[in-house]
Amino acid sequence: MRDNEERIIGRCIGETSPLALTFISKKTPKVGEYVVLDYGGTKVLGMIETLSGCSTSITEKIYNPETVEKIREIEGEDHYTRGSIKILGDVETLRIPRVPPSPGIEIRIADEDTLKKVFSGGKDELKIGDLITQEGVAVELDVNKMVTRHLAILAMTGAGKSNTVAVITDGILKFKGSVLIFDMHSEYVDAEFDGGTNVIEPHINPLYLSLPEFAKLANIPGDAYVQERYFRMAYGDVRNSVRGGSISNKEFFNSIQEKLDEFLEMEDYKGDKKPIVAVKNKLDDLIERYRNILSLNAPDLVEEIKLSAANVIDLGSVDEDAADVIVSHTLSNLLKKIKRGDLSFPVFVVLEEAHILAPKSRSTLSKYWIGRIAREGRKFGIGLCMVSQRPKSLDPESLSQANNMIILRLIEPTDQRHVQEASESLSEDLLKQLPSLNIGEAIVLGPMTRVPALVKIDEFKGKLLGGDINIVEKWRRLKEEDERELKEQEKEISEFMEY
Ligand SMILES: Nc1ncnc2c1ncn2[C@@H]1O[C@H](COP(=O)(O)OP(=O)(O)OP(=O)(O)O)[C@@H](O)[C@H]1O
Ligand SMILES: [Mg+2]
Repeated sequence: MRDNEERIIGRCIGETSPLALTFISKKTPKVGEYVVLDYGGTKVLGMIETLSGCSTSITEKIYNPETVEKIREIEGEDHYTRGSIKILGDVETLRIPRVPPSPGIEIRIADEDTLKKVFSGGKDELKIGDLITQEGVAVELDVNKMVTRHLAILAMTGAGKSNTVAVITDGILKFKGSVLIFDMHSEYVDAEFDGGTNVIEPHINPLYLSLPEFAKLANIPGDAYVQERYFRMAYGDVRNSVRGGSISNKEFFNSIQEKLDEFLEMEDYKGDKKPIVAVKNKLDDLIERYRNILSLNAPDLVEEIKLSAANVIDLGSVDEDAADVIVSHTLSNLLKKIKRGDLSFPVFVVLEEAHILAPKSRSTLSKYWIGRIAREGRKFGIGLCMVSQRPKSLDPESLSQANNMIILRLIEPTDQRHVQEASESLSEDLLKQLPSLNIGEAIVLGPMTRVPALVKIDEFKGKLLGGDINIVEKWRRLKEEDERELKEQEKEISEFMEY
């Protein structure tokens, strides 16, 4: 619906403040709708945050339904709406006037032209969707502020997080930017982005892993000090020899095993036979388990990141430990290379399943680097986008570094609280909206948007895997296949009998 005139919906009542006011209306506006008021010599924008239906004659003190019916017969429709408005600032500069509105002044629904001025038309912005309440008003986000001040995309499963990531990636590619997606479920590998998708195989070169990274892959826990010591001695020695050229890449794992065999023979280490054998077994397991991702000739993953492309590291077929090692290794190298000037362009890094990579109550290798980039990244041009369906399990420190938020449908109360604690601008009233959002609808907050917005996110047009599959259809097809096979077998048998 086009709405290009300012309709009066009600008047301000009671005590007001420069930040909020209460109003009453005979109409039924919607939560999230934008209103304008004239005071302090300027036109001021506000957002309806709460609404309740009231009646002057049908009060809570009436306990008899027949009485209610009779009052309605006599009074007719006497209901009115009472609500609260958050003041967002004057429509030109979005600065909050220093004076409060005076009680009694008119509240008008903002027209389309005013809203378009507020939500779009800025420099270097990408379109994410339209306002839910005023269809036809595009919502654009400031790309610089999105990348430098980090972003969290939070919602229950299936609410539209990956679709939002895809829309943002497409928007960044229009600026010829660079996005790096850690794709935990191979959702983005076939996505058709405007600037092209650069799928990066998750090969890692053990020669360049840090000791903790290698130890994690080998399943040597941090508190297994004796195992760790022998592992460190053997690994360190062999790595130096490979780097120095006295041992070839191919001999890397064999040489570590030989080194451990030497330790087994040594008189000094006689008492430690058990942990040394344990390390040997763990190395065998590591080679077996990670045969497909370990490559002694693999280049550094960071060198494969391209400008003007969606760079997708496909982690769909690796387990959580390996994903942790790959993410931590890539992030640490990315930070190092950008700091040193070896990588010359800014990168927006998307972490799907951020609560697994940076969990609240466990330590992981990635958590350290996610925290470092969250704190330091903006100075060097690395932006983080943390995506999670379980905000309550996400490391609160990393989450609080994400100044921008896109929150889609979220019904779990603890998740909602966690999100509210991390975001100064998510009011109690907006929080209450979260369970009633539909798929693809979101509250958008933070410096990347001029004012908080309720947005229907655009649908990504390029192909994206990971949407809901049609289960019944799948069963039906399997059943049909079974029936077809059975019929063919019966036909073959009857032909054979006839013969
Ligand atoms: N803005 C939107 N407009 C239209 N359809 C949408 C929108 N957002 C999501 N969908 C649809 O909803 C389904 C789920 O979306 P999506 O995969 O983005 O959810 P998700 O939050 O990433 O889920 P998961 O937690 O499983 O990763 C998809 O089929 C997608 O096409
Ligand atoms: Mg998803």
